[in-house]
Amino acid sequence: MKLFSPFRLGTVELKNRIVMAPMTRSRAQGNIPNSLMAEYYDQRASTGLIVTEGTSPSPNGLGYARIPGIFSTEQRDGWRLVTEAVHAGGGRIFIQLMHAGRVGSTLNLPVGAELLAPSAIAMSGAIWTDVKGEQTYDTPRSMTAGDIAAAIEEYARAATLASEAGFDGVEIHGANGYLITQFLDPGSNQRDDDYGGDATRRNCFALDVARAVINAIGASRTGIRLSPYGVFNDMSGTYEGIAGQYTQLAADLGRLGMAYMHMVDHSAMGAPKPDQAVVCTMCKSFRDSGGGSIILSGGYDRERAEADIQDGTADLVAFGRPLIANPDLVERLRTGASLAVPDQATFYTPGKEGYTDYPGLADYRV
Ligand SMILES: Cc1cc2nc3c(=O)[nH]c(=O)nc-3n(C[C@H](O)[C@H](O)[C@H](O)COP(=O)(O)O)c2cc1C
Repeated sequence: MKLFSPFRLGTVELKNRIVMAPMTRSRAQGNIPNSLMAEYYDQRASTGLIVTEGTSPSPNGLGYARIPGIFSTEQRDGWRLVTEAVHAGGGRIFIQLMHAGRVGSTLNLPVGAELLAPSAIAMSGAIWTDVKGEQTYDTPRSMTAGDIAAAIEEYARAATLASEAGFDGVEIHGANGYLITQFLDPGSNQRDDDYGGDATRRNCFALDVARAVINAIGASRTGIRLSPYGVFNDMSGTYEGIAGQYTQLAADLGRLGMAYMHMVDHSAMGAPKPDQAVVCTMCKSFRDSGGGSIILSGGYDRERAEADIQDGTADLVAFGRPLIANPDLVERLRTGASLAVPDQATFYTPGKEGYTDYPGLADYRV
């Protein structure tokens, strides 16, 4: 099957076309990566490419409890444990840069950090904090022009630190309602400066971040994740002009020569299905304008992954939840073995339970 064939992504050789989708797992006590995380990623190094959990380029972007950062040398050194383990296992690994923006609680932030967003519009609902349990979302402060420039700089510095930590590349998280999506969406972006208003201006932040990361580490080592029509984290789903906005964005990102564009479809998790015609047009625009590869994700099994790769819709396919409970997913897909089901109760809890203690097939045989 083509799914198991090697692939060249930018300048990086992958041993197969199975990608581990980025998944927040909240095991980074003090926001610093550790040896438990190195063990977890090492267990999954048989995938062609691992994309790490969302990792903040800034103290201001650490909205969730126990998510890792990549803005200090201590965090860089913690991540080195992870990259060394994955490389020793023959794997490749990109770090996902996720600035959470307004998705967070001040109680989860370090001293001196603050919740920032394009506009001062709070999320609905509540978020977990280790200090006081569930809390309603705080209202973010609307970013000044200086805050925006500083945040773009933070992405660039994070990319440099990631490179020093041994990562093969960086995935910019432009999906799922975090800071970059907050700029893209007219519901959360009500600015009237260069970064808000019409679709072209709402795309500016994503493009400026992409340029900054590319300047730091090179286009062939930079990818981006996008979720048009997403509704997670209070995003609007559909709105007037969305097709044109995202098609333009994909073309502009392609022109920067990025290694890949990674598309999210969360309909398998109950979200509305993204407009497939628009997703196809985006992928074509990205490729035609000079962009690299396409990664598709969401609800994949072996057959659908193989079909999308065979017909050229995707170059690579990302698996999320199956990789939580099946560290040896590649082997299971290869042999047609059954898949274990992940325990949602331990998705975000501290410690090794539900994290590094899922057995591989070989463990049953001993
Ligand atoms: C526990 C968990 C954490 C996630 N965290 C992230 C994240 O940090 N960044 C991101 O882009 N997507 C995140 N996702 C979404 C996944 O990358 C993926 O798109 C989703 O699980 C659908 O793929 P699947 O059907 O193969 O699981 C997360 C999903 C899960 C289940």
